[in-house]
Amino acid sequence: MIITIDGPAGSGKSTAARKLAARLHIPYLDTGAMYRVVTLAAIDDRLDMTDEDAITELAATADFSLDCGPTHVRVVLRGQDVSEEIRTQRIANHSKDIARLKRVRAILVQKQQEIGRELGSMVSEGRDQGSVAFPEADFKFYMVADLDTRADRRFHDLRAEGEDVTLEQVKENISSRDASDEQKGGLVRPDDAIEINTSNLTIGQVLEQLLKHLAACGVDVPNDHPTGASS
Ligand code: DC
Repeated sequence: MIITIDGPAGSGKSTAARKLAARLHIPYLDTGAMYRVVTLAAIDDRLDMTDEDAITELAATADFSLDCGPTHVRVVLRGQDVSEEIRTQRIANHSKDIARLKRVRAILVQKQQEIGRELGSMVSEGRDQGSVAFPEADFKFYMVADLDTRADRRFHDLRAEGEDVTLEQVKENISSRDASDEQKGGLVRPDDAIEINTSNLTIGQVLEQLLKHLAACGVDVPNDHPTGASS
């Protein structure tokens, strides 16, 4: 069973996808982390972010791995744990340049499809999972939230990670990423996706909506929670 969750930055899709996967006892794939780790590798290698040939080659060959768990995503690049480094604003700023390179997208989508084939079941989260990577997914969700809510969420996340940013900067970054995602990036709202507006919902309520929909479609939702924590 493949479940896709797409949506713009700060729409709450990552937390929802991770919690949904944990609840269903299936793996979770954070495809944004793939774009972020390629971005970090390109910075390390001092590549020009517009050099599509070089970055496509890097995306195809760079030694990175993802371990997407119920509470965190562990990303290793060339033997180094870069899980925290890829979350910085610097990487977010450059990742949108990488995400607009069509051949890089094709390589990463191919990797996502391979992971999907290997795992069989997963919750895959990103911008193009229901449209390009898994058009035949069993369930597709698309999350939205208003700009102020999304900026506020990102701001608190970044501050919690020790980043020195202002709310205004985060808001500007999100709106410029929105424009870039929509024009040249991969953000697509699949026609057959169920839209959830998370602006006024807690994560628990978002999860409840997702589970309610899946249960109504006959998916067997386990009652327990693997970590024993409440959502
Ligand atoms: O969701 P995120 O902020 O971690 O995503 C990082 C970057 O990757 C962002 O610029 C959007 C891009 N991205 C994409 O184009 N397609 C995806 N499937 C996932 C992320």
